[in-house]
Amino acid sequence: MFDLEHFISECRAALAADPSHKLVRQAVARAVAEPASILKRLGEPQQAEIQKLYHASDLTILNVIWGPMMTVVPHDHRMWAVIGIYTGREDNIFWRRLPDGNGRVEAVGAKTLCTGDAEPLGPHVIHSVTNPIPRLTGAIHVYGGDFFAAERSEWDSENLIEGRYDAERMMRRFEEANASIRGNR
Ligand SMILES: [Fe+2]
Repeated sequence: MFDLEHFISECRAALAADPSHKLVRQAVARAVAEPASILKRLGEPQQAEIQKLYHASDLTILNVIWGPMMTVVPHDHRMWAVIGIYTGREDNIFWRRLPDGNGRVEAVGAKTLCTGDAEPLGPHVIHSVTNPIPRLTGAIHVYGGDFFAAERSEWDSENLIEGRYDAERMMRRFEEANASIRGNR
């Protein structure tokens, strides 16, 4: 079975050996290579949510469950991240700031992530995420910093204008996803 304590110490050791996401990505890739084992330890996803698995000033590990067909608006993290999918799928669109765009962004790429994929994101990446399937998607997210304390941006979905990331608004999106799951039952 996936050993969470062992995974956390692997990530800590990886970070100590290399401050980039390189070795952490390898640890996440090893973990999601056995998705059934993660499901046994963390449980089958029950609802859209963010579970904190580990939190320190230089490293944050989350269990992120995306609701069916849920989308989150473009945002940055201002620290590197590794996303490892252990059930379901996730589509990422990558964005860049427009020169002289007053903070507006344009799409520059996309990446589909499937169960077993471990994707590194550099500290300047701006991405939006969609779960394109009609069931919950589960992913381990590792961040090279304090995910909850960092100041960062998000871009509104209609006009792609930069604003301050609002954690409460993000939590409301998870609640809305759960409300629509309940409505469909
Ligand atoms: Fe993100």
